[in-house]
Amino acid sequence: MFSQAREIAAGDVVIVWFTRESLKAITITPGEELNGRFGAYRHTDLIGKPFGSKIGSRNGKGFIYVLRPTPELWTLALPHRTQILYVADIAFVVSWLGIRPGSVVIESGTGSGSFSHSVARTIGKSGKLHSFEFHDTRCQTAQEEFAQHGMSEYVTVSHRNVCKAGFDLEDVVDAVFLDLPAPWEAIPAAKLALKKTQSTRICCFSPCAEQVLRTVSALNDSGFTSITMYETLLRTIDVGSYPPLKSVGTVAEKLKDADVKREARRVKQIEESAMRAKEKGRKKAAEMGGQEMDIFGESEHPHGQKRKAGEDREANGQSNTPQEDDSEAGPHTKKPKPDGPSPLTLEMVGHLPKSADCKLTTTSTGF
Ligand SMILES: C[S@@+](CC[C@H](N)C(=O)[O-])C[C@H]1O[C@@H](n2cnc3c(N)ncnc32)[C@H](O)[C@@H]1O
Repeated sequence: MFSQAREIAAGDVVIVWFTRESLKAITITPGEELNGRFGAYRHTDLIGKPFGSKIGSRNGKGFIYVLRPTPELWTLALPHRTQILYVADIAFVVSWLGIRPGSVVIESGTGSGSFSHSVARTIGKSGKLHSFEFHDTRCQTAQEEFAQHGMSEYVTVSHRNVCKAGFDLEDVVDAVFLDLPAPWEAIPAAKLALKKTQSTRICCFSPCAEQVLRTVSALNDSGFTSITMYETLLRTIDVGSYPPLKSVGTVAEKLKDADVKREARRVKQIEESAMRAKEKGRKKAAEMGGQEMDIFGESEHPHGQKRKAGEDREANGQSNTPQEDDSEAGPHTKKPKPDGPSPLTLEMVGHLPKSADCKLTTTSTGF
């Protein structure tokens, strides 16, 4: 299957890599030329070059890579005649069908031959792939391609409607893969073809749930067991475009800086809040002429007595001791000190100014 020589020779199939998204399969034919967006390449210039070489265009403006074909590259570069299977599905199906070197496999339809190439590589020359396609031109093209890729010895393509005519095989295959619009119609024939002396497997590939339901019914009717449905998803993670990682030391330094800034902001807020509270208290004291007051209004005691803010706090099970309040910190518990000519003493109790139970008590010490 495909050339295994080191260098490219006339008649070889080569996968030309223009970009990640643009690949093309060519057969090296002396006298022919390949044209890309950034220049032209003569086939003869590729002869003798090792597979995998980077080749510059004749005008010096572009380049290509000339790659040895693999089933995966063929899947990306093949001329599409139908919808095809891609690597995620192919790998999953080949693995779950238990296909291995020497396996005998049925595939229908052949389509563009994407799945066929992977199966052919896995079974090798000791195995056998029976491929069936009812579209005349697709069948012929697949036969030609398989011959050119050195697979004809162990891969056959038959022109047949398998839903009507079956596979014409009995008790000889290890696995069956059906990629058809109505796979349920081919299940009885598949059962006939599968070996009876061992446990065997069948896989039907369908894009719609309605198809799956009909297939499951047909599999049940034919006595298949362990029927399961899977969806395969492939996610590419582009590792090339990530910026290089910063060192742990740099990251730690940044975190430390952010911490210092946050703390500075917090201290500033505390100071501003304390200043505001102090100012408010001073104004109230001036207004009240130094009398005892509760600037948020006095609360009525249940027994008709008026209570001070500190008592309210005690009634709520909270401590009234300023030192204890300080230990719990919080940005608004700084105790303002009296200053200026006023003889008033300010005492702050509780949290300022957000909390609903916030109280500010002024105590007159006389004029
Ligand atoms: C989606 S394509 C298969 C693609 C293929 N698995 C690949 O990876 O390239 C389905 C093919 O099945 C063929 N087909 C549909 N019904 C068929 C039938 N009853 N018997 C044989 N081939 C059939 C179609 O002509 C078509 O080429």
